[in-house]
Amino acid sequence: MGQPISVLIISDSDNEIRPLLDTMIKGGYEPTYKRVETTAAVQSALKEASWDLVLYDDAVAESEAFSAIALLRETDNNVPLIILSDVINEEVVVRSMKAGASDYITKASLSRLIPAVAGALQETIDSRQDQKYHQDIIVDLRKGLEATVQAISTAVEIRDPYTAGHQRRVSHLACAIAAEMGLASRQIDGLRIASAIHDIGKMYIPPEILSKPAKLTEEEYNLIKKHPKAGFDILKDIDFPWPVARIVLEHHERIDGSGYPNGSTEEDLLLESMILAVSDVVEAVASYRSYRPAMAIDVALDEIVSKKGIHYNILVVDACLRLFGLKGYKMIP
Ligand SMILES: [Fe+2]
Ligand SMILES: [Fe+2]
Repeated sequence: MGQPISVLIISDSDNEIRPLLDTMIKGGYEPTYKRVETTAAVQSALKEASWDLVLYDDAVAESEAFSAIALLRETDNNVPLIILSDVINEEVVVRSMKAGASDYITKASLSRLIPAVAGALQETIDSRQDQKYHQDIIVDLRKGLEATVQAISTAVEIRDPYTAGHQRRVSHLACAIAAEMGLASRQIDGLRIASAIHDIGKMYIPPEILSKPAKLTEEEYNLIKKHPKAGFDILKDIDFPWPVARIVLEHHERIDGSGYPNGSTEEDLLLESMILAVSDVVEAVASYRSYRPAMAIDVALDEIVSKKGIHYNILVVDACLRLFGLKGYKMIP
């Protein structure tokens, strides 16, 4: 029994492909095959099955050949393609290899077909393993990034035990609001990271101010107001694929310009920042703080409703209300 191999053969005659199949059988393969002639037929053959190998007989019109190669590379970049020709035409060889052919052999030396097939199949295996390796690395890096962000988040909160878990809960709520609003997963990923460390700038604030059990003096409050910019400065040089530093910078901005640090208004704020602002205030009001006991979630939602369209983006507030009211969302512990 030979090694099974499914081969899509682009050729204009059955007579041409018999020697190819015989050579493959002699070389230890057991081919199942389909012969097609046109680019359109290649397209439907690629749709209906997956192929181990494509053989192209260049007796078929050259224009068909290049559109077939292009099509193959668009559909599945891993399937090897070997071109068979009556004569060696250097220019066509170069063009074919550039276009993505794996090998080019003449029909006069069909004995080269077997090593060419073996080489092409091995390359496919290597390239699939490479792709898998890179995919695995991306998954590992992502997990590592999330764990690192979580560790930083916890480190920030250690100095302020009253807000333990604040950033984690804000991040969870912010992502739920973003999903409810239909944001792209790329935006949600950035929001998740930014929310989880949005108060990182509080590292610069003395812990006795952070956990002061009484109302803050104006001076102390002014110090607290520096934390978004301090957070931005910590994060701005990290090459995230998302605007993490900017979201952190803008999380205390209000759409009417009454927020800090820049007094930016709605047109200038990222949607992610406006989602974080709402999530932050809902969590902060609903949870226990050093200067007052915890309040019910209704009080937190009343706060965003009363400032909807003034401090907070209307669509964000509406999405947040839908989450708690209709979708049964609960703050995570
Ligand atoms: Fe903050
Ligand atoms: Fe916060």
